[in-house]
Amino acid sequence: MSGLEIVRDPQVLRARRARWRAAGESCALVPTMGNLHAGHLALVRAARERAGRVIATLFVNPGQFGEGEDFDAYPRTFEEDRRKLSDCGVDLLFCPTVADVYPDGWDGHTRVTVPGLSGILCGATRPIHFTGVATVVTKLLNLAAPEVALFGEKDYQQLTVIRRLVRDLWIPVEIVGVPTVRESDGLAMSSRNRYLTADERARAPALYRVLCAQAAALAGGVRDFAAVSAAGMADLAAAGLEPEYFEVRRADDLELPQPADSHVVILAAARLGRARLIDNVRTRLNPDPGSPIIGGP
Ligand code: PAF
Repeated sequence: MSGLEIVRDPQVLRARRARWRAAGESCALVPTMGNLHAGHLALVRAARERAGRVIATLFVNPGQFGEGEDFDAYPRTFEEDRRKLSDCGVDLLFCPTVADVYPDGWDGHTRVTVPGLSGILCGATRPIHFTGVATVVTKLLNLAAPEVALFGEKDYQQLTVIRRLVRDLWIPVEIVGVPTVRESDGLAMSSRNRYLTADERARAPALYRVLCAQAAALAGGVRDFAAVSAAGMADLAAAGLEPEYFEVRRADDLELPQPADSHVVILAAARLGRARLIDNVRTRLNPDPGSPIIGGP
């Protein structure tokens, strides 16, 4: 029999958490929008290693979708998700309604915005996105009050935004980034990969390939970041993708790298048919000979 409890009412979640705390049990939180794949299950496994109790959340958050984006089309697969979470030993699945999360609607709701970070890279073309993410993640952290919360490194900018809001708002939680899970050809797992046709799916691994090639150039001594960016954009276009950006940034705060910086991340977004793919690869600028690209092949 499944030990997974399904909770829709925020007050019930609060009560469970209080009971676990009184019993001295620690808690890890795994926020998701559902349509779970191996990347999400890696978050759950990492959560189980870190806490006695695991709460997963499933909420397709309207606040983080802009006008004309795929909120309505976003895949909703509740029964499959429930079974996967149950098999992975999650204790509680919190799946509130939009009215539970935004009683006065998104437009009337208090918002959390991380300035600067939210407007660059993906935020340049998705202006409301990170405010939507930051707002819902803040609410979930406040409600579940976990010791630790886990997020995928595939959404590297999102992870950076969340680390910043936790620091700025004094939220007492450890944020853990979990390495990207990839298909055998390198494509980062994503719920949106299902928008790809067979032909687009065959082209999609170019995103990771081009990122790795440019990360290897940086690790090998190239320091002209504008040239790296231009080469990445050109290689993605040549592979049949429509690149949106391809940028080298400082790994901890996504600022432009300075000469003394050693850890950088290359982040890229590209359109392919109906899908918008994002990915990233970290590397060191002054590596020891033979040191690997972080998260590379
Ligand atoms: O990464 C996601 O699935 C979402 O952005 C998150 C963190 C669950 C917030 O809605």
